[in-house]
Amino acid sequence: MSVNHGANLYDLSSKYGFSKDEFMDFSSNINPFGTSNKAKEYVINNINMVSMYPDPEYVSLKKSISKYCNCLDENIVLGSGATELISSFIKTVNPKKTLLLSPAYSEYEHELNKIGSDIIKFFSKEENNFAIDIEELVTDINKGNYDLTIICNPNNPTGFAFSRDEIEYILKNTNCYIMIDETYIEFTDTNTYSSTKLVDNYDKLFVIRGTSKFFSTPGIRLGYGLIGNKEVKNKINENLDLWNINIIAASMGEIMFLDNMFIFKTIDAMLRERDYLTNELSTINDLTVYPSKGNFILCKISSKKFTAKELRDKLLPEKIIIRDCNSFEGLSEYYFRVCILKPNENKLLVKTLKNIFK
Ligand SMILES: Cc1ncc(COP(=O)(O)O)c(C=O)c1O
Repeated sequence: MSVNHGANLYDLSSKYGFSKDEFMDFSSNINPFGTSNKAKEYVINNINMVSMYPDPEYVSLKKSISKYCNCLDENIVLGSGATELISSFIKTVNPKKTLLLSPAYSEYEHELNKIGSDIIKFFSKEENNFAIDIEELVTDINKGNYDLTIICNPNNPTGFAFSRDEIEYILKNTNCYIMIDETYIEFTDTNTYSSTKLVDNYDKLFVIRGTSKFFSTPGIRLGYGLIGNKEVKNKINENLDLWNINIIAASMGEIMFLDNMFIFKTIDAMLRERDYLTNELSTINDLTVYPSKGNFILCKISSKKFTAKELRDKLLPEKIIIRDCNSFEGLSEYYFRVCILKPNENKLLVKTLKNIFK
C-alpha cells in the first residue's frame, strides 16, 4: 500500500505491540461513533444472505441512494469505494490535460499518472487559509484548455469547501469535465455544499461519494458516483465487473442511507467535537489551526519546535496517531492533520499536545 495515506494500523500494531483497537487513529478520518445500528443488525440477522448473489442491477440500493442524494437512480454508478470510481472515471474520460486543485488527496495524481495525463496544479494559498477564489479558478480553467478539473469538496487535507452555487458557477462558465470528490461532504451542510442535485442538469459533472468516512464502513468498500452524461456513464458501467458490490455492502447501503436518526446524530456530535477540537488546538501558541468543513483539521507547527514527523513519533507511544502532511505537495514538513474522534479521545489529544508544547 502507498505510504501517502492515513495510518496502516496492521503495520503499526506489530511495530509498537499495541492491538489495532488500542490506537486512537486521528489519521484516517473515519467517523468514530461507528456505523448505523440498523444496518449492522440487518446484516447480523440475515447473514445467510452470503449464500446468494447480489441483485446485478442493485435496484433497491440505487433507490436508496437516489432518495439520499436527490438525483435520478439511472444516473448512479456503483463502485468498490470512492477509490474505484476515481479510477474508472479518470480512465473513461482519459483527459490529456488535467487541472488538479492542490494540495489534495494523492489518489487523483496516482490515477492520472497511470494514463499519462498532463497534470497542472492549482495551489490554494496558506495566506488565504487555503480558500480558493472562484473567479481566479474559472479564469485558470478557461486559459488552460483542460479536459478535466478535479476538486475534492471539502478538500482533504485543507478543509476548504466550495458551495453548490460556486460549483454551478464553475460549470456554467467553463467547458471541461469537473470531477468532485464528496467523500467528506456529509460533515458540512449538504444543502449548501453538495453538488449531487446538479448532476441531472450538467453533463460535464461527475460527483463521487463513498461511505467509508461518514458511515464508518471502510471495510465494506461501498462507493457511488452520480453522472448525467449518458455516454460516459455507459462506458463506466460497461467496464465495471458484474456484481462489483457484495451483498453485505449492498444491504447495508439500502438501510443506512435512509437511517435519518443515525445521520442527524452523527452530524450533531461531529460538529460539536469539531468546534471543541478547533478551539482547543487554537489555544496552543506553537500551532496555526486552519478552519475546516470536514471531519479533520489541518494544523501547522508554526513555531517549528518539531517537524510533524517528530510530533507523530512522540505521540505513537501514547497510542495516538496523527497524519504527517509532508507528503502533500504544497505543504511542508511542519503540517499535520487530525480527525475528530470521540470526546474523551479528543480531550486526551489536546492534553497530550499541550504537554508536548508546554
Ligand atoms: C478525499 C478522499 N477520497 C477518497 C478516499 C477513499 O475512499 P474510499 O474508502 O471510499 O475508497 C479517501 C480516503 O482517505 C479520501 O480522503
